[in-house]
Amino acid sequence: KDVYAVIGSPIKHSKSPWIHTLFAEVTQEPVEYKAVLGNEQDFAGSVDAFRAEGGLGLNVTVPFKQDAFNYATEHSERAKRAGAVNTLVFREDGSVLADNTDGVGIVRDITKNHGFNIQGQRVLILGAGGAVRGILEPLLSEQPSAVVIANRTVSKAEELAQDFADLGSVSACGFVDVEGAFDLIINGTSASLSGELPPVPETVIQSSTVCYDMMYGAEMTVFNQWAQKQGASQVIDGLGMLVEQAAESFFIWRGVRPDTTPVLTALRDSLK
Ligand code: ATR
Repeated sequence: KDVYAVIGSPIKHSKSPWIHTLFAEVTQEPVEYKAVLGNEQDFAGSVDAFRAEGGLGLNVTVPFKQDAFNYATEHSERAKRAGAVNTLVFREDGSVLADNTDGVGIVRDITKNHGFNIQGQRVLILGAGGAVRGILEPLLSEQPSAVVIANRTVSKAEELAQDFADLGSVSACGFVDVEGAFDLIINGTSASLSGELPPVPETVIQSSTVCYDMMYGAEMTVFNQWAQKQGASQVIDGLGMLVEQAAESFFIWRGVRPDTTPVLTALRDSLK
């Protein structure tokens, strides 16, 4: 079998081996997918060892997404924009291709799985960290009418708005300064982890607003609970994004696109 893996530290909690093993079954591809605990002092050494054993590709998670960027010899446009990498391809000629499938993952979950067309819509993004940077290029290529990035540290939102200004209408502000209502709101802060809510005005949500929390869990996230209470038309968590970004990586490696629906259903059941 062809060997792939996810590398991170810690790595035990990763759902990628489970997801990719199901993809391999569904597509009948001869793929074996492992979990590799990376050496935080020597990412390159960990990757070299994996390649020496015949590994053909890696998914990369915390804290190595920037190390993976530096390790690679070629980068996709979206990986360059993200400044971080979640997928590596080891080619026969020794070159290493880097890609970032997170943004495509969330866009596909929103448009394909939830039937929401982003084109022409007003989008609010909460947060301005690595996770948000990673999704901006694919999101903007859907041509929303405007994207507002709101963050606790406003300067980080401003920096992102500047970095992506050539791709569309992107502006920045603090949470309490957000004005108007939005068609799509994406929570990309890690505030949910501590059960906190970004203090945006309730008026950002109207009855047609779709809310997306990039986090997920067995219970509805605090942000999605809040959004539902404000009357949002749909609240979505990040589980679909997780499965879709995995599917895109699988496609990059194998040239085959797995059906994500049964995998997402099984993963949802396993959270209960
Ligand atoms: P990630 O890779 O998940 O994006 P990150 O780069 O550390 O991690 O970014 C975390 C994001 O969540 C940032 O936008 C951060 O806000 P700051 O830039 O002001 O630090 C945001 N965040 C984290 N905890 C938060 C909280 N309790 N309330 C609001 N925003 C929070």
